[in-house]
Amino acid sequence: MAEKKIIAVVGATGAQGGGLVRAILSDASSAFTPRALTRDVNSDRAKELAKLGAEVVAADVDDVESLKRAFKGACGAFCVTFFWAHFSPEKELAEAKAMAEAAKHAGIQHVIWSTLEDTRKWVPLSDSRMPTLMGKYKVPHFDAKGEANQVFTELGLPTTFLLTSFYWENLIYFGMGPKKGPDGKLAITLPMGDKKLPGIAAEDIGKCAYGIFKKGREFIGKTVGIAGEHLTGAQMAAALAKALGQEVRYNDVPPEVYRSFGFPGAEDLGNMFQFKRDFEQVFCGARNLDVARALDPSLQTFDRWLAQNKSRIPLE
Ligand SMILES: NC(=O)c1ccc[n+]([C@@H]2O[C@H](COP(=O)([O-])OP(=O)(O)OC[C@H]3O[C@@H](n4cnc5c(N)ncnc54)[C@H](OP(=O)(O)O)[C@@H]3O)[C@@H](O)[C@H]2O)c1
Repeated sequence: MAEKKIIAVVGATGAQGGGLVRAILSDASSAFTPRALTRDVNSDRAKELAKLGAEVVAADVDDVESLKRAFKGACGAFCVTFFWAHFSPEKELAEAKAMAEAAKHAGIQHVIWSTLEDTRKWVPLSDSRMPTLMGKYKVPHFDAKGEANQVFTELGLPTTFLLTSFYWENLIYFGMGPKKGPDGKLAITLPMGDKKLPGIAAEDIGKCAYGIFKKGREFIGKTVGIAGEHLTGAQMAAALAKALGQEVRYNDVPPEVYRSFGFPGAEDLGNMFQFKRDFEQVFCGARNLDVARALDPSLQTFDRWLAQNKSRIPLE
């Protein structure tokens, strides 16, 4: 049997990378084997991946030499950054540069860069419809990822640019689940008007990435957008109500109200939702459901995700 080709996975103990590691390992006839990168090979999550059969190695995206060691001998690399760990777009850009440099050094044959739109292409800093944040961004956690695309391109890396979507897990972990209003009724609050929000089960991102690695050349140099479904706030609320067996309303607020909520990242997320609302066709159009389903035949719909996960959504 031919030796399996190694895919080095950044963020392997997290949502996107973890999904990719599990997708590879669950395919017994795979031509690939995952190398899971983590800062702590002794953490419970790292040990869990080792138990599943992954090679687990130490690396930190802030340490380019550690990335070079971790990418050595690999044929593919999945690259992702961690904005919410530090809230710094500059740091995110530096981390993307470190991964691209290490991929070049290791001669990686196929890189997947988990990116998002640089919203400044549609909303220049001079556009006053949303505030400029951190001096030179409209949506800091999007813009630096989009800006970093050119780092991979300029180094001539064989890259697929993967545009991800809103994780439905945000309803569990990110404080975006239904909350009781003054009337005692549950509601989800999103500043999306009647526009559609592309969403996805986080685990499906890794499965789609695996589909891209399997297709190989066909996707090199391409931008691929993925989502499980495009749903309005009202449709999400209706699906939640059905799954939870109680009324859930959609609380549509203006983006400026969302920006003023005061939690860390509220302004960034307010601008992000406004971008998705005001550029619905661009944003949904870049995330084709059929493409995602072809890459990941078990791609979940919101209803299916809810059936599996409704009990994990914290309710007051
Ligand atoms: N939430 C959403 O809806 C959404 C949608 C699209 C895109 N995104 C983007 O997804 C990105 C995060 O990906 P994720 O959700 O897969 O992450 P995650 O689940 O938060 O996992 C992050 C993992 O990355 C590792 N990590 C953190 N800092 C690291 C460092 N300096 N070096 C190496 N590894 C490090 C950690 O592993 P160890 O502790 O084991 O090292 C952690 O387990 C963010 O940039 C975010 O903007 C999020």
